[in-house]
Amino acid sequence: MKTTQIAIDGPAGAGKSTIARLVADLFDFTYIDTGAMYRAITLKAMRMNIELVDEEAFGFLDDTEFSYVEGRLHMDGADVSRDIRTREVSNNVSLVSSHRLVRKKLVERQKCIAKDQDIVMDGRDIGYNVLPAADYKFFLTANVKTRALRRFRENEEQGLHIPLEDLESEIIARDDFDTNRIHSPLKPANDAVIIDTSNMRIEDVVKTIESIVKEVD
Ligand code: DC
Repeated sequence: MKTTQIAIDGPAGAGKSTIARLVADLFDFTYIDTGAMYRAITLKAMRMNIELVDEEAFGFLDDTEFSYVEGRLHMDGADVSRDIRTREVSNNVSLVSSHRLVRKKLVERQKCIAKDQDIVMDGRDIGYNVLPAADYKFFLTANVKTRALRRFRENEEQGLHIPLEDLESEIIARDDFDTNRIHSPLKPANDAVIIDTSNMRIEDVVKTIESIVKEVD
């Protein structure tokens, strides 16, 4: 059976997860947030008190089990979808996801999940590394101010008060790390459609993606 793969990449706060989830719902595809896997591994390493700079210490990944239950990430049988969103995890995940060994193991799993099902997968290297043969590839961007403001509003909604300037500098630092790392840095696939979401509403981005997917089908 021919399945359809949609890859969505982009920097932190560009709206990837929200948009990818809506696109998946629209076409009734499975949605996989690969950033959540890197976050979960970071959370587990922090709980285990291992040195995050030590790539060799991530051998525990082989015994780590992931599943997505109704769109929520479970690790080793427990729902970690909330715990992986803390600021501490956000500020350590770039380092953890820069390790070649960690990427190799997670990419293998991501490829396996995407096999044999219609999928929308979001991340940083999906279009050119995880699913290079994806039917559709999108790269969502937005200026730093817009992205920081989105994070700020999300946090405020959850009762988390972090100054906008702090969020802005954290986003800049994370982008810089993700873009300049050696192994599979953040970048668009050569054949990705680039969408700047700075001045777009979520529903308009979804409509743009929908129209491109339908046009080709
Ligand atoms: O999408 P996110 O902000 O939850 O991703 C968290 C981090 O994980 C991000 O800073 C970089 C890393 N990541 C990655 O290296 N490759 C992916 N495919 C997805 C995320």
